[in-house]
Amino acid sequence: MDNAATTALDPEVFEVMKPLMLDMYGNPSSTHAHGREVRTKIEHARRKVAELLNTVPGEIFFTSGGTEADNTAICCTVDAYKVKHIISTSIEHHAVKHTIERLVEAGKVKASYVDLDEKGHIDMAHLEQLLKNNPNSLVSIMHANNEIGTKNDIDRIGELVEEYGGTFHSDTVQTMGHFTHDLKKLKAHFVVGSAHKFHGPKGVGFLRVCKSRSIGRFIEGGGQERNRRGGTENVYGIVGLAKALELAYSNMDTHRAHVQGLKDRMIHKLKTAIPEIQFNGNLDSERSLYTVLNASFPAHENNAMLLFSLDINGISASGGSACSSGANTGSHVLNGINADPSRQGIRFSFSKYNTTDEVDYTVAKLEEIFAPVEV
Ligand SMILES: Cc1ncc(COP(=O)(O)O)c(C=O)c1O
Repeated sequence: MDNAATTALDPEVFEVMKPLMLDMYGNPSSTHAHGREVRTKIEHARRKVAELLNTVPGEIFFTSGGTEADNTAICCTVDAYKVKHIISTSIEHHAVKHTIERLVEAGKVKASYVDLDEKGHIDMAHLEQLLKNNPNSLVSIMHANNEIGTKNDIDRIGELVEEYGGTFHSDTVQTMGHFTHDLKKLKAHFVVGSAHKFHGPKGVGFLRVCKSRSIGRFIEGGGQERNRRGGTENVYGIVGLAKALELAYSNMDTHRAHVQGLKDRMIHKLKTAIPEIQFNGNLDSERSLYTVLNASFPAHENNAMLLFSLDINGISASGGSACSSGANTGSHVLNGINADPSRQGIRFSFSKYNTTDEVDYTVAKLEEIFAPVEV
């Protein structure tokens, strides 16, 4: 029940990766036949990703994942375009939040944070005001939040940013592979993807750099990734990413219906089992991720042990993003939407492999935990 943290590798994806792990081990930069056959695989994967997202292969750069892609988009834009002001939100993933904080600490930029409503949607009027007051801003606003599932309207944000001449980066890690993206229409200069969020391998992702933006070299080294990102490519990861995205696109409607069904079932069952339950974020299926449900449990003596109690029953869920587990400062996302601190927020997140039995089992365990103590 923690598929926003990562998803299981699809066996079909593993099948296309295997030959590149066992047999085709040439270095794609080598000019001999063993190298060239591997180079062809990378370029084929790039074409596939570009085709699915309705853009050109020259705009797709493979990276080690979503974090690197977010870091690259933000830091390289600041350097290349002498950006002095970033507009973002307080509930971005740490890949964005910490990158911006580091640039602010270094004195390179100032940052402004757009007001949010209680569900985590941005205030468009406030964004427009910030853009008006700060020309040449870099706007970094996520498509959907990984903890509460709230989706922003990135079509409208893109249009607004264009109107005021800024640059727009959107962390699309949680929507890539779960919703379609038409990059010819979307006015975002940078979007990102991470294969392990859509049943691909870990440690590989991509950054889309719109051809209207030129951001220099991301990593010094060899001439890989069209001279932008040095380092021998993660060939089997790249091939796996393209296959995973292809599968995600070809089965999207079926998977969406199944996963939304699981989410709706869990909401319904939780409301019956624990009447005081509430939910963080937006439950409207048009304005949230169908993969994420953030439940807000009433104050209870067992709350501190809630994740542990689920864990010992074989249920993996999350109190925040996986990348921040271990930090006990509370969720910056729940703080950012002023969630009631006396309640306990738990993120359940679903994939095509979850079943209704798993949902029912989870709710049954939660009902036991919250049952009134008999004296
Ligand atoms: C919204 C968001 N951005 C970025 C990332 C980082 O992606 P990766 O794990 O590929 O570095 C994640 C992963 O949890 C995420 O949910």
